[in-house]
Amino acid sequence: MTVHPTFSHASTARLTSHDLGRFSGATLFDRIARAVCEAGCLPRKELYEAWEVARRTRRLFRGGRVVDLAAGHGLLAQMMLLLDDTSPSAVAVDPHLPASAARLHEALCLHWPRLVGRVEFLSAGIEDVEVTAADVVVSAHACGALTDVVLDRASATLARVAVLPCCHHLDSEEAKKLAALGYVSAQGAAATSSLNPRDHLRDLDALKQVTELVSARKFAEAAALMEKLLATNPGWSDLRDQLGVAYEQLHDLARAEKTYRDAIRTTPELAPEFALSLANVLIERGALDDAAAHAELALVHNPRGAHEMLARIAAARGDLVLAKREAELAGSDFVLAQVLLAQNDAAGALAALQRIYSRKQGLPQGYFALAGEVFLKLGREEEARLAFLQAKQLAERRRPAG
Ligand SMILES: C[S@@+](CC[C@H](N)C(=O)[O-])C[C@H]1O[C@@H](n2cnc3c(N)ncnc32)[C@H](O)[C@@H]1O
Repeated sequence: MTVHPTFSHASTARLTSHDLGRFSGATLFDRIARAVCEAGCLPRKELYEAWEVARRTRRLFRGGRVVDLAAGHGLLAQMMLLLDDTSPSAVAVDPHLPASAARLHEALCLHWPRLVGRVEFLSAGIEDVEVTAADVVVSAHACGALTDVVLDRASATLARVAVLPCCHHLDSEEAKKLAALGYVSAQGAAATSSLNPRDHLRDLDALKQVTELVSARKFAEAAALMEKLLATNPGWSDLRDQLGVAYEQLHDLARAEKTYRDAIRTTPELAPEFALSLANVLIERGALDDAAAHAELALVHNPRGAHEMLARIAAARGDLVLAKREAELAGSDFVLAQVLLAQNDAAGALAALQRIYSRKQGLPQGYFALAGEVFLKLGREEEARLAFLQAKQLAERRRPAG
């Protein structure tokens, strides 16, 4: 059976205007996501992570000045204001504020003019900011021990605080698995890269060029430029992720595989994320055992993604019972629909597809092609024809330029 990857929320690929269609709903999240796509500078995972942190924090803490520490683009700070307008202002604090933070802020202000003048971007360290008891302190992915500093700063004044810690150190289990796969030596297994991807953003002009080439679907040119940048900035993991995606778009699976393997070797602390991208390529290449070993690397940090990958691997092996169980563990209606169709349960597959559609959260790649197959099986030929037509039109839009 043919299995298709879904839209990973954990990817560090940038959201651009090409992703607008994925967020077509009227929910606040979709509206924010569309503004983020328009800005064209934010890694996908930051949108989902900031949203989850903001949403959970606002369930507990209303009002107060928002202090976003190690803020990066400061999206979390701005989401906190959008979710609760009783907060008067927010400050986004980071010693290396990315230049594109301004672009993102402008895009959000265009949609929510009430943000204008209420968000301060402070180029400073956590230790340089005054925190008061009335503040709500938030922080997502403050690297390594920085999260402890955030907690210290907040607790010193009894400010309310919520953090999403950063997993910048391998635990011993992960280190062992990486050693077994040959990425790090057993003795050196606990060593992690001390590189901070954000430190490489000084090369912003080149990054902008990469983003533009990717947006124009000129993947071959984008890949050449990224290879050049990585030769001098080997720890730039965001870029390596985008390079892998570019090679996948070009169907150059050998280079995509090498890119993800290099990524795991260079930034082993990010291994769980890259392992899933690599597993995806390995499935395509038919290396199913290797794919499973890499999917398992992500089980702790991204159980949904890992189970979804394991479901696809089991399906590719023809073990549909295991594939169904893994798809259910992943909560992936899309893979479940593929498995049910392979089990000749077209009605069940259609129900799973309808659940995806009714969630209005964007449709996974391959949705219409699968819907077409399901309708065909059910003898609903006109609906199958329309679904295949949609699939064809989408595939044409996704084709690399040139
Ligand atoms: C992994 S990024 C997280 C960015 C953002 N919060 C997110 O979730 O995408 C970690 C950030 O911590 C920042 N940082 C490093 N040292 C810092 C310090 N002493 N005080 C505040 N931020 C710091 C870096 O510049 C970087 O932007």
